[in-house]
Amino acid sequence: MQIITDIAALRETVAHWRRHGERIGFVPTMGNLHGGHLALVDEARHRSDRVVVSIFVNPTQFGPGEDFQNYPRTRAADGEALQRHDTDVLFAPGVEAVYPDGPTLRTRVEVPELTDILCGASRPGHFTGVATVVTKLLNLVQPDLAVFGLKDYQQLLVIRRLVEDLSLPVEIVGGAIAREADGLAMSSRNAYLEPAERARAPALYRMLCDLAARLEAGGEDFQRLLAEGRERIREAGMTPDYLEIRRAADLAPAGPGDHELVIPVAAYLGRARLIDNVRVTRPHSGQGGGDEYAGE
Ligand code: PAJ
Repeated sequence: MQIITDIAALRETVAHWRRHGERIGFVPTMGNLHGGHLALVDEARHRSDRVVVSIFVNPTQFGPGEDFQNYPRTRAADGEALQRHDTDVLFAPGVEAVYPDGPTLRTRVEVPELTDILCGASRPGHFTGVATVVTKLLNLVQPDLAVFGLKDYQQLLVIRRLVEDLSLPVEIVGGAIAREADGLAMSSRNAYLEPAERARAPALYRMLCDLAARLEAGGEDFQRLLAEGRERIREAGMTPDYLEIRRAADLAPAGPGDHELVIPVAAYLGRARLIDNVRVTRPHSGQGGGDEYAGE
């Protein structure tokens, strides 16, 4: 595995592969790699001839008072894990390589609407930082495909939309959510949990699964289901940020007539802000004289 920190060297390596007709897969990360990241690397490996993984803790996606300074940086262990997972290039630029004029965005990529809601509402500017750095990384690596986790469902939709709207020539692949044995979604920020908090954290996923089961069974009183879900988050000692039932395609508010849904959640637990989601496919109900099928 080659470790590259320099943009010109990255471009040269990738251009060489491309001249030989090799298919390039890319996995952008902020490091502190866990099983979720490594599953994305395996997915990229499976689909490409060459795999580039970036590790860059991107300052422009952290708000003031967020954890940019304290974000866990574990470069040596990350390098070993990537080597084991057959990575060709670890691209680990410094902040000054990515932002030569300092980490303020002179040119930015905005994806309005989709970024005003859910995590975007709680973290103003976050998705502008993500969208801009991902656009930049995609331009640097110029991969054929890039893999992003479904764990950050809203982020995945933001990236799909900017790729479509800016006509970027890359395929975006969504990778399944990797979970700990007790169901907690893997996250670098789980390291912020004290042992007692860590023991309570799986309640979030259990609540999502119960809510999903009730939606699949035809539950239609979304507001009541959500109120119960938020109560369960509080009972587990967490503070809900949001819990919603949305359309999977665009995160717009869902109604009982929608079939492809996602339940996104964010909650504070100790020093951590946990996010998770489950997707739900609701059967078309046979009731009501089939009106529901009329418009489809
Ligand atoms: P980071 O949080 O390091 O995540 C890198 C990638 O790993 C993202 O696509 C994320 O969705 C995915 N991921 C994280 N935990 C996962 C899990 N438990 N299961 C599956 N996938 C998981 O997301 C970012 O970095 C940054 O915003 C980035 C896209 C790199 C831009 O800076």
